Amino acid sequence: MIIAIDGPAASGKGTLARRLAAHFGLPHLDTGLLYRAVGAQCLADGRLGDEAASVAVAEDLDVRTLDPEALRTAAIGEAASVVAARPGVRAALLDLQRRFAAQPGGAVLDGRDIGTVICPDAPAKLFVTASPEVRAERRYKELIGRGEPARFEDVLADIRIRDARDSGRASAPLAMAEDAALLDTTQLGIEEAFAAALALVDSATSRHP
Ligand code: DC
Repeated sequence: MIIAIDGPAASGKGTLARRLAAHFGLPHLDTGLLYRAVGAQCLADGRLGDEAASVAVAEDLDVRTLDPEALRTAAIGEAASVVAARPGVRAALLDLQRRFAAQPGGAVLDGRDIGTVICPDAPAKLFVTASPEVRAERRYKELIGRGEPARFEDVLADIRIRDARDSGRASAPLAMAEDAALLDTTQLGIEEAFAAALALVDSATSRHP
């Protein structure tokens, strides 16, 4: 079974994807980490503005070397959003994601274009969202918890900029697939959100076994 989960930054999709993967015993790929790894390398090389260099980094990406903790900073998230708008970067990461999804038994993938581009035939698709203010609050707490200096107003401004870039780009923009189920976590705690996600996946898979 393939479970495709999309949504904007800090919507809770990553946590839900991990929980669903554990529940169903499926491998999980946080596809944002791929774009973060490319953005981080371009930043380190001082070549974030160089499109060809970012495509080359994406083509050479070794997923075994990804360090999720090191990649979750705000600066790398911003760099990821910049490189993710480039069609060549997206094309370079496409096969890897499709191969991950095609594993026997299935997989859970979360990102921005999983239900629309990477796995359009996934039987279970969720689009997880929440208000920008609630998402900024979550991201703010996460950054403070990791010891990163942050101001709520800056985090909210960054979330709005990222939303606009991720949704406004020409190549595979953040969008809800027509056949995805919408899960708004604005008013939900993690346990309630997980119960709702599980119910939506169960209902989708009973319709498309
Ligand atoms: O989910 P995240 O914050 O780790 O994602 C980082 C950036 O990568 C995000 O701004 C948009 C981009 N991204 C994407 O374009 N497509 C995906 N499937 C996953 C992430």
